[in-house]
Amino acid sequence: MELRDLLVFGLSFVFIILWCRRCFVSGGNARKLPPGPPGWPLVGNLFQIMLQGRHFIFSIRDLRPKYGPIFTMQMGQRTLVIVTSPELIHEALIQKGTIFASRPPDSPIRLVFSVGKCAVNSAEYGPLWRTLRRNFVTELISPVRVKQCSWIRDWALENHMKRLQNEASEKGFVDVMDICRFTVCSILVYICFGAKIPDEWIKDIDSVTKDVMLITMPHLPDFLPILTPLFRKQMKRAKELRKTQMECMVPLIRKRRAFVEKRESPNEEMVSPVGAAYVDSLFSLQAPGRGHLGEEELVTVCSELFVAGIDTTTSVLQWIFYELVVNQDIQEKLYKEVVDCAGKDGFITEEQVDKMKYLHAIVKETLRVHSPAHFTLSHAATEETELGGYKIPTDVYVEFYLEWMTEDPSMWKDPSVFRPERFLDGDGVDVDVTGTKGVLKMLPFGAGRRTCPGLSLGLLHVNLMLARMVQAFKWVPVPSFPPDPAEAFAFTVVMKNPLKAALLGR
Ligand code: HEM
Repeated sequence: MELRDLLVFGLSFVFIILWCRRCFVSGGNARKLPPGPPGWPLVGNLFQIMLQGRHFIFSIRDLRPKYGPIFTMQMGQRTLVIVTSPELIHEALIQKGTIFASRPPDSPIRLVFSVGKCAVNSAEYGPLWRTLRRNFVTELISPVRVKQCSWIRDWALENHMKRLQNEASEKGFVDVMDICRFTVCSILVYICFGAKIPDEWIKDIDSVTKDVMLITMPHLPDFLPILTPLFRKQMKRAKELRKTQMECMVPLIRKRRAFVEKRESPNEEMVSPVGAAYVDSLFSLQAPGRGHLGEEELVTVCSELFVAGIDTTTSVLQWIFYELVVNQDIQEKLYKEVVDCAGKDGFITEEQVDKMKYLHAIVKETLRVHSPAHFTLSHAATEETELGGYKIPTDVYVEFYLEWMTEDPSMWKDPSVFRPERFLDGDGVDVDVTGTKGVLKMLPFGAGRRTCPGLSLGLLHVNLMLARMVQAFKWVPVPSFPPDPAEAFAFTVVMKNPLKAALLGR
């Protein structure tokens, strides 16, 4: 027998054992999981989905009419329960909020970056998560902190406007996503480390963040752990990337720690006073089960801001500008609101942006039509429970598909039409995007215990950048790169062909 045959024989044998154990221990259907598409022996629906050669989301869209608002997919050894209706999402995330508030186990590659689930997004529901999340909220999004950091946004946006001008005059157009990414990343770097660092360093942080997001997306061995030995190269690459990530951020953390310990006054490099940077709060944090955070944990908790905050924010901005470029009447209406509020050349403050109702309607309509997240992150139940009349055991991945409700014609008139006015006097007026009050018709940030804690910060950045970019320029299509709404599914849902736009002075 050749080595390859031995391997195939060995793998098949282990599969059969695992499959039998699954059936006998759990009683197969006796678990009363929600129904779902019949799968193949051993691998369930995994290869059926892979062979379709398209993103998982399209399969979910096809399966929903057949299997209803809750169904099961057996992806290798991973059992996924997909929840798609607003009623069941509300029941799980709000009514049974504490039960559905945990996260399933991380894959081996994700564990490399989460250092054993030590971050707000990955921590299981419990004391560690509570401490990290409370600290996140106090240190990043409390009104005092937001006000304290407004100079960072002003400074970053001043540079942003210069970069727009330069890139437009050099190339004749700008790449909206690219240019916004850099600005959002630099704002988050300043908020996190309180330090002014060279542009190249910011680009390195952005680039390592992108790579981390890609490598931590699900891979075959996450569904069939038995194949892990065949994917050693990927694990090696993940460890190298982790090293690069550490090398990129540890020097910043060390410099900041020295600055904080000596209680120095702000200087050229450390621009924020002691206590004003997010990382300052992490130096003294006592994390349950971990004690003081070491450098590995500090890098993980800080990187979370970049992983969670850059792509989401910039993808929203890119889609907004797509809609403004193709709908010039909407752009003109927004321009008028901005000028009425702040003047043609006036400096736009965060307080003024707060009052721009049409701008908020545009942002909400973009989140409805082009939400960056079609799913929440995976959830797990803290105890066996029921949803929609089915059992939900603790070892399944519960996936909340948020997009269904925003496309539902019984909730939205002409759901595919981009019409911001619906949030001023139409079917969007009573909508609450947090799901806590009002009608539940869209949840771009999730809902309940694990809802996005960066909501207000992300929206502040989107709103402010939008207002200033529209006040300064008229955004028009580039004939050689016509705007194309085709979607690509990466970590967030982005434009397959990134938006290029030309700028005309106002
Ligand atoms: C427009 C921008 C954003 C959107 C659409 C968005 C959306 C989401 C969604 C859908 C979730 C998953 C909720 C769940 O699993 O139930 C989430 C979680 C999270 N987001 Fe955001 N997000 C945005 C911006 C941000 C920003 C700017 C930050 C940080 C600076 C951030 C930090 C987080 C964190 C830490 C979590 C995990 C929360 C937890 O597990 O307790 N997000 N976000």
